[in-house]
Amino acid sequence: MIKILAIDTSADETSAAVTEGRKILSNVMFSQIPIHAQWGGIVPDKAKRAHEERISPVIDEALKKAGVTLDDIDAIAVTYGPGLAIALGVGIQKAKELAHKHNKKLIGVNHLEGHIYSCFAQDAQGQPDSPLEYPYLALLVSGGHTEIVLLDDDVSYTILGSTRDDAAGEAIDKAARLITGDKIYPGGPVIERLAKDGDPAFMNFPRPMSRDDSLDFSYSGLKTALLYIVEDMSQEELDKHRNDLAASFQKAVFDSILIKLKKAMKKHSIKNVCVGGGVVANELLRERIEEVVKDAGGYVALPPFRDIYGDNAAMIGIAASYHAKKGDFVKDPDSFDRNARARLC
Ligand code: KG4
Ligand code: ZN
Repeated sequence: MIKILAIDTSADETSAAVTEGRKILSNVMFSQIPIHAQWGGIVPDKAKRAHEERISPVIDEALKKAGVTLDDIDAIAVTYGPGLAIALGVGIQKAKELAHKHNKKLIGVNHLEGHIYSCFAQDAQGQPDSPLEYPYLALLVSGGHTEIVLLDDDVSYTILGSTRDDAAGEAIDKAARLITGDKIYPGGPVIERLAKDGDPAFMNFPRPMSRDDSLDFSYSGLKTALLYIVEDMSQEELDKHRNDLAASFQKAVFDSILIKLKKAMKKHSIKNVCVGGGVVANELLRERIEEVVKDAGGYVALPPFRDIYGDNAAMIGIAASYHAKKGDFVKDPDSFDRNARARLC
Protein backbone atom coordinates (compact mmCIF):
# COMPACT_ATOMS: atom_id res chain seq x y z
CA MET A 1 0.00 0.00 0.00
CA ILE A 2 1.44 3.39 -0.92
CA LYS A 3 2.00 6.18 1.61
CA ILE A 4 0.27 9.43 0.82
CA LEU A 5 0.81 12.94 2.12
CA ALA A 6 -2.60 14.62 1.88
CA ILE A 7 -3.52 18.31 2.08
CA ASP A 8 -6.90 20.03 2.49
CA THR A 9 -7.30 23.82 2.59
CA SER A 10 -10.82 23.99 1.17
CA ALA A 11 -12.36 26.20 3.85
CA ASP A 12 -11.32 27.10 7.40
CA GLU A 13 -9.08 24.17 8.38
CA THR A 14 -5.46 23.95 7.33
CA SER A 15 -4.92 20.22 7.39
CA ALA A 16 -2.24 17.71 6.38
CA ALA A 17 -2.17 13.97 6.95
CA VAL A 18 -0.17 10.87 6.19
CA THR A 19 -2.25 7.85 5.18
CA GLU A 20 -1.67 4.35 3.90
CA GLY A 21 -4.75 2.85 2.25
CA ARG A 22 -7.54 3.32 4.81
CA LYS A 23 -5.06 3.79 7.66
CA ILE A 24 -4.47 7.22 9.19
CA LEU A 25 -0.84 7.51 10.30
CA SER A 26 -1.25 11.18 11.25
CA ASN A 27 -3.87 13.88 10.78
CA VAL A 28 -3.00 17.45 11.76
CA MET A 29 -5.57 20.22 11.70
CA PHE A 30 -5.18 23.91 12.35
CA SER A 31 -8.63 25.38 12.84
CA GLN A 32 -9.30 28.98 11.80
CA ILE A 33 -12.61 29.09 13.70
CA PRO A 34 -11.26 31.60 16.28
CA ILE A 35 -10.19 33.85 13.37
CA HIS A 36 -13.63 33.85 11.69
CA ALA A 37 -16.03 33.37 14.65
CA GLN A 38 -16.44 37.08 15.44
CA TRP A 39 -17.47 37.80 11.82
CA GLY A 40 -20.24 35.17 11.73
CA GLY A 41 -18.67 33.32 8.77
CA ILE A 42 -15.45 32.67 6.86
CA VAL A 43 -13.64 35.86 5.78
CA PRO A 44 -11.85 34.82 2.53
CA ASP A 45 -8.76 37.09 2.84
CA LYS A 46 -8.16 36.07 6.43
CA ALA A 47 -8.61 32.40 5.48
CA LYS A 48 -6.04 32.68 2.69
CA ARG A 49 -3.49 34.36 4.92
CA ALA A 50 -3.97 31.86 7.75
CA HIS A 51 -3.59 28.91 5.32
CA GLU A 52 -0.39 30.45 3.94
CA GLU A 53 1.00 30.90 7.44
CA ARG A 54 0.15 27.42 8.68
CA ILE A 55 0.49 25.13 5.67
CA SER A 56 4.23 24.36 6.01
CA PRO A 57 4.26 23.79 9.80
CA VAL A 58 1.11 21.65 9.54
CA ILE A 59 2.73 19.47 6.84
CA ASP A 60 5.95 19.16 8.87
CA GLU A 61 3.96 18.11 11.92
CA ALA A 62 1.95 15.53 9.96
CA LEU A 63 5.16 13.93 8.65
CA LYS A 64 6.75 14.01 12.11
CA LYS A 65 3.71 12.50 13.83
CA ALA A 66 3.62 9.68 11.28
CA GLY A 67 7.34 9.11 11.86
CA VAL A 68 8.21 9.59 8.18
CA THR A 69 10.02 12.02 5.92
CA LEU A 70 9.10 13.07 2.39
CA ASP A 71 11.44 10.33 1.14
CA ASP A 72 8.99 7.73 2.50
CA ILE A 73 6.02 9.34 0.73
CA ASP A 74 4.87 7.85 -2.59
CA ALA A 75 2.33 10.47 -3.69
CA ILE A 76 0.90 13.83 -2.67
CA ALA A 77 -2.89 14.25 -2.62
CA VAL A 78 -4.68 17.58 -2.50
CA THR A 79 -8.27 18.82 -2.53
CA TYR A 80 -8.99 20.68 -5.80
CA GLY A 81 -12.61 21.60 -4.90
CA PRO A 82 -15.35 22.32 -4.11
CA GLY A 83 -14.55 25.03 -1.60
CA LEU A 84 -13.36 28.57 -1.21
CA ALA A 85 -11.24 29.34 -4.30
CA ILE A 86 -8.44 31.37 -2.70
CA ALA A 87 -8.17 28.88 0.16
CA LEU A 88 -8.01 25.88 -2.20
CA GLY A 89 -5.26 27.64 -4.11
CA VAL A 90 -2.91 27.63 -1.11
CA GLY A 91 -3.06 23.84 -0.72
CA ILE A 92 -2.74 23.20 -4.45
CA GLN A 93 0.27 25.46 -4.83
CA LYS A 94 2.01 23.77 -1.90
CA ALA A 95 1.21 20.28 -3.21
CA LYS A 96 2.53 21.14 -6.66
CA GLU A 97 5.67 22.68 -5.20
CA LEU A 98 6.43 19.60 -3.07
CA ALA A 99 5.58 17.17 -5.88
CA HIS A 100 7.92 19.01 -8.25
CA LYS A 101 10.76 19.43 -5.78
CA HIS A 102 10.67 15.85 -4.48
CA ASN A 103 9.60 14.18 -7.70
CA LYS A 104 6.33 12.74 -6.38
CA LYS A 105 3.10 11.89 -8.16
CA LEU A 106 0.11 14.17 -7.57
CA ILE A 107 -3.47 13.04 -6.89
CA GLY A 108 -6.39 15.48 -7.13
CA VAL A 109 -9.27 14.73 -4.77
CA ASN A 110 -12.78 16.14 -4.64
CA HIS A 111 -13.54 17.36 -1.11
CA LEU A 112 -16.87 15.51 -1.10
CA GLU A 113 -15.35 12.14 -1.94
CA GLY A 114 -13.07 12.80 1.03
CA HIS A 115 -16.15 13.11 3.27
CA ILE A 116 -17.55 9.88 1.77
CA TYR A 117 -14.33 7.93 2.35
CA SER A 118 -14.03 9.30 5.92
CA CYS A 119 -16.54 6.55 6.80
CA PHE A 120 -13.97 3.87 5.95
CA ALA A 121 -11.07 5.35 7.91
CA GLN A 122 -8.94 3.17 10.16
CA ASP A 123 -6.35 3.93 12.82
CA ALA A 124 -2.67 3.08 12.28
CA GLN A 125 -3.39 -0.48 13.49
CA GLY A 126 -6.09 -0.99 10.87
CA GLN A 127 -9.07 -0.67 13.24
CA PRO A 128 -12.01 -0.78 12.78
CA ASP A 129 -11.50 -3.46 10.13
CA SER A 130 -15.09 -3.43 8.83
CA PRO A 131 -15.27 -4.39 5.15
CA LEU A 132 -15.90 -1.92 2.36
CA GLU A 133 -18.58 -3.57 0.24
CA TYR A 134 -20.08 -1.65 -2.68
CA PRO A 135 -22.67 -0.45 -3.48
CA TYR A 136 -23.30 2.27 -0.88
CA LEU A 137 -25.74 5.10 -0.66
CA ALA A 138 -23.58 7.96 0.53
CA LEU A 139 -25.35 10.73 2.41
CA LEU A 140 -23.37 13.98 2.49
CA VAL A 141 -24.43 16.65 4.97
CA SER A 142 -21.95 19.52 5.18
CA GLY A 143 -21.86 23.30 5.26
CA GLY A 144 -21.89 23.52 1.49
CA HIS A 145 -23.62 20.32 0.36
CA THR A 146 -26.57 18.06 1.02
CA GLU A 147 -26.49 15.11 -1.36
CA ILE A 148 -27.37 11.47 -1.74
CA VAL A 149 -24.80 9.73 -3.92
CA LEU A 150 -24.55 6.21 -5.29
CA LEU A 151 -21.05 4.82 -4.70
CA ASP A 152 -20.95 1.61 -6.71
CA ASP A 153 -17.22 1.03 -7.06
CA ASP A 154 -13.93 2.64 -6.07
CA VAL A 155 -14.33 6.43 -6.60
CA SER A 156 -17.34 5.88 -8.89
CA TYR A 157 -20.23 8.21 -8.12
CA THR A 158 -23.71 9.02 -9.36
CA ILE A 159 -25.55 11.92 -7.72
CA LEU A 160 -29.08 10.74 -6.93
CA GLY A 161 -30.29 13.85 -5.15
CA SER A 162 -28.96 17.21 -4.03
CA THR A 163 -30.12 20.49 -2.59
CA ARG A 164 -31.92 22.87 -4.92
CA ASP A 165 -30.81 25.88 -2.88
CA ASP A 166 -29.07 25.98 0.52
CA ALA A 167 -27.26 23.11 2.20
CA ALA A 168 -28.51 21.72 5.52
CA GLY A 169 -25.38 22.93 7.36
CA GLU A 170 -25.75 26.39 5.86
CA ALA A 171 -29.40 26.56 7.03
CA ILE A 172 -28.38 25.46 10.53
CA ASP A 173 -25.61 28.10 10.60
CA LYS A 174 -28.12 30.78 9.61
CA ALA A 175 -30.64 29.53 12.18
CA ALA A 176 -28.03 29.84 14.93
CA ARG A 177 -27.50 33.51 14.03
CA LEU A 178 -31.24 34.22 13.91
CA ILE A 179 -32.06 32.42 17.15
CA THR A 180 -29.20 33.84 19.22
CA GLY A 181 -29.09 37.26 17.53
CA ASP A 182 -25.29 36.91 17.52
CA LYS A 183 -22.67 36.63 14.78
CA ILE A 184 -21.99 32.97 15.45
CA TYR A 185 -19.79 30.66 13.37
CA PRO A 186 -20.16 27.75 13.01
CA GLY A 187 -23.76 27.46 14.15
CA GLY A 188 -24.12 23.66 14.22
CA PRO A 189 -22.65 23.02 17.68
CA VAL A 190 -24.70 25.94 19.13
CA ILE A 191 -27.98 24.65 17.67
CA GLU A 192 -27.16 21.15 18.94
CA ARG A 193 -26.50 22.45 22.46
CA LEU A 194 -29.64 24.66 22.56
CA ALA A 195 -31.82 21.90 21.09
CA LYS A 196 -30.88 19.46 23.86
CA ASP A 197 -33.01 21.46 26.34
CA GLY A 198 -35.75 22.43 23.90
CA ASP A 199 -39.13 21.09 22.84
CA PRO A 200 -38.99 19.88 19.22
CA ALA A 201 -42.80 20.09 19.05
CA PHE A 202 -42.83 23.82 19.96
CA MET A 203 -43.06 24.95 16.36
CA ASN A 204 -44.19 22.86 13.41
CA PHE A 205 -41.78 23.89 10.67
CA PRO A 206 -42.36 22.52 7.16
CA ARG A 207 -40.48 19.35 6.10
CA PRO A 208 -39.27 20.73 2.76
CA MET A 209 -39.62 18.50 -0.33
CA SER A 210 -41.05 15.67 1.74
CA ARG A 211 -43.92 15.03 -0.69
CA ASP A 212 -41.70 15.43 -3.72
CA ASP A 213 -40.81 12.16 -5.43
CA SER A 214 -37.23 13.17 -6.14
CA LEU A 215 -34.32 12.69 -3.74
CA ASP A 216 -33.62 16.43 -3.74
CA PHE A 217 -33.52 18.74 -0.75
CA SER A 218 -34.38 22.40 -0.19
CA TYR A 219 -33.68 24.56 2.84
CA SER A 220 -34.18 28.17 1.84
CA GLY A 221 -37.93 28.09 2.59
CA LEU A 222 -37.30 26.66 6.02
CA LYS A 223 -34.78 29.40 6.69
CA THR A 224 -37.28 32.07 5.64
CA ALA A 225 -39.99 30.48 7.82
CA LEU A 226 -37.69 30.81 10.82
CA LEU A 227 -36.83 34.40 9.93
CA TYR A 228 -40.53 35.40 9.93
CA ILE A 229 -41.18 33.60 13.21
CA VAL A 230 -38.22 35.27 14.93
CA GLU A 231 -39.24 38.70 13.56
CA ASP A 232 -42.75 38.22 14.96
CA MET A 233 -41.56 37.30 18.45
CA SER A 234 -40.95 39.82 21.21
CA GLN A 235 -37.49 39.80 22.78
CA GLU A 236 -39.03 38.28 25.88
CA GLU A 237 -40.64 35.42 23.97
CA LEU A 238 -37.45 34.82 22.02
CA ASP A 239 -35.36 34.67 25.20
CA LYS A 240 -37.85 32.20 26.66
CA HIS A 241 -38.05 29.95 23.62
CA ARG A 242 -34.52 29.88 22.13
CA ASN A 243 -34.07 26.24 23.03
CA ASP A 244 -37.51 25.29 21.70
CA LEU A 245 -36.89 27.09 18.40
CA ALA A 246 -33.51 25.37 18.00
CA ALA A 247 -35.01 21.95 18.75
CA SER A 248 -37.95 22.48 16.37
CA PHE A 249 -35.77 23.80 13.54
CA GLN A 250 -33.19 21.06 13.97
CA LYS A 251 -35.95 18.43 13.92
CA ALA A 252 -37.36 19.78 10.66
CA VAL A 253 -33.91 19.69 9.01
CA PHE A 254 -33.14 16.18 10.24
CA ASP A 255 -36.63 14.84 9.41
CA SER A 256 -36.27 16.04 5.84
CA ILE A 257 -32.87 14.31 5.55
CA LEU A 258 -34.21 11.05 6.96
CA ILE A 259 -37.32 11.07 4.75
CA LYS A 260 -35.08 11.24 1.68
CA LEU A 261 -32.62 8.66 3.00
CA LYS A 262 -35.46 6.17 3.56
CA LYS A 263 -36.82 6.93 0.11
CA ALA A 264 -33.39 6.42 -1.47
CA MET A 265 -32.83 3.05 0.23
CA LYS A 266 -36.21 1.85 -0.99
CA LYS A 267 -35.98 3.26 -4.49
CA HIS A 268 -32.50 1.86 -5.17
CA SER A 269 -32.78 -1.29 -3.00
CA ILE A 270 -29.45 -0.52 -1.35
CA LYS A 271 -28.85 -1.56 2.24
CA ASN A 272 -25.38 -0.12 2.85
CA VAL A 273 -25.33 3.54 3.80
CA CYS A 274 -22.34 5.75 4.59
CA VAL A 275 -22.65 9.26 5.96
CA GLY A 276 -20.14 12.11 5.89
CA GLY A 277 -19.86 15.89 6.30
CA GLY A 278 -19.56 18.26 9.23
CA VAL A 279 -23.22 18.02 10.33
CA VAL A 280 -22.58 14.35 11.21
CA ALA A 281 -20.90 15.72 14.34
CA ASN A 282 -24.46 16.06 15.64
CA GLU A 283 -25.13 13.17 17.99
CA LEU A 284 -28.90 13.15 17.49
CA LEU A 285 -28.50 13.05 13.70
CA ARG A 286 -26.14 10.07 13.96
CA GLU A 287 -28.56 8.24 16.27
CA ARG A 288 -31.53 8.92 14.03
CA ILE A 289 -29.68 7.81 10.89
CA GLU A 290 -28.63 4.56 12.61
CA GLU A 291 -32.23 3.97 13.65
CA VAL A 292 -33.66 4.58 10.16
CA VAL A 293 -31.07 2.44 8.39
CA LYS A 294 -31.37 -0.43 10.89
CA ASP A 295 -35.18 -0.32 10.65
CA ALA A 296 -34.82 -0.75 6.90
CA GLY A 297 -32.57 -3.78 7.51
CA GLY A 298 -29.47 -1.89 6.41
CA TYR A 299 -25.99 -1.24 7.68
CA VAL A 300 -24.59 2.23 8.32
CA ALA A 301 -20.95 3.34 8.18
CA LEU A 302 -20.21 6.60 10.00
CA PRO A 303 -16.80 8.25 10.35
CA PRO A 304 -15.27 6.13 13.15
CA PHE A 305 -13.34 8.98 14.83
CA ARG A 306 -14.65 12.30 16.15
CA ASP A 307 -11.87 14.39 14.64
CA ILE A 308 -12.73 13.37 11.09
CA TYR A 309 -16.40 14.46 11.12
CA GLY A 310 -15.42 17.92 9.91
CA ASP A 311 -12.84 18.93 7.32
CA ASN A 312 -9.52 17.12 7.52
CA ALA A 313 -6.78 15.89 5.19
CA ALA A 314 -6.85 12.22 6.30
CA MET A 315 -10.13 11.67 4.44
CA ILE A 316 -8.51 13.17 1.33
CA GLY A 317 -5.60 10.74 1.65
CA ILE A 318 -7.94 7.76 2.01
CA ALA A 319 -9.97 8.71 -1.08
CA ALA A 320 -6.67 9.34 -2.91
CA SER A 321 -5.51 5.77 -2.27
CA TYR A 322 -8.50 4.50 -4.28
CA HIS A 323 -7.59 6.87 -7.12
CA ALA A 324 -4.00 5.59 -6.97
CA LYS A 325 -5.29 2.00 -7.14
CA LYS A 326 -6.82 2.93 -10.49
CA GLY A 327 -3.66 4.71 -11.68
CA ASP A 328 -5.56 7.96 -11.51
CA PHE A 329 -2.75 10.51 -11.03
CA VAL A 330 -2.54 14.12 -12.24
CA LYS A 331 -1.13 13.90 -15.78
CA ASP A 332 -0.03 17.48 -16.23
CA PRO A 333 0.78 19.14 -12.88
CA ASP A 334 1.34 22.52 -14.56
CA SER A 335 -2.27 22.77 -15.69
CA PHE A 336 -3.73 21.15 -12.56
CA ASP A 337 -5.83 23.79 -10.82
CA ARG A 338 -8.57 24.40 -8.29
CA ASN A 339 -12.24 24.14 -9.16
CA ALA A 340 -14.25 25.93 -6.47
CA ARG A 341 -17.53 24.55 -7.85
CA ALA A 342 -16.38 21.03 -8.60
CA ARG A 343 -19.05 18.35 -8.65
CA LEU A 344 -18.56 14.70 -7.79
CA CYS A 345 -19.41 13.49 -11.27
O1 KG4 B 1 -17.91 19.37 6.31
P1 KG4 B 1 -17.74 20.66 7.03
O2 KG4 B 1 -16.78 20.72 8.17
O3 KG4 B 1 -17.36 21.78 6.02
C1 KG4 B 1 -17.85 21.79 4.71
O4 KG4 B 1 -17.31 21.05 3.87
O5 KG4 B 1 -18.89 22.49 4.52
O6 KG4 B 1 -19.21 21.09 7.54
C2 KG4 B 1 -19.42 22.28 8.23
C3 KG4 B 1 -20.86 22.32 8.69
C4 KG4 B 1 -21.26 23.69 9.26
O7 KG4 B 1 -22.49 24.08 8.69
C5 KG4 B 1 -21.39 23.42 10.75
O8 KG4 B 1 -22.29 24.27 11.41
C6 KG4 B 1 -21.87 21.99 10.73
O9 KG4 B 1 -21.08 21.37 9.74
N1 KG4 B 1 -21.70 21.34 12.05
C7 KG4 B 1 -22.74 20.86 12.78
C8 KG4 B 1 -22.17 20.42 14.01
N2 KG4 B 1 -20.83 20.63 13.96
C9 KG4 B 1 -20.56 21.21 12.75
N3 KG4 B 1 -24.06 20.79 12.52
C10 KG4 B 1 -24.85 20.26 13.48
N4 KG4 B 1 -24.40 19.82 14.67
C11 KG4 B 1 -23.08 19.88 14.99
N5 KG4 B 1 -22.64 19.45 16.16
ZN1 ZN C 1 -16.25 19.51 4.30
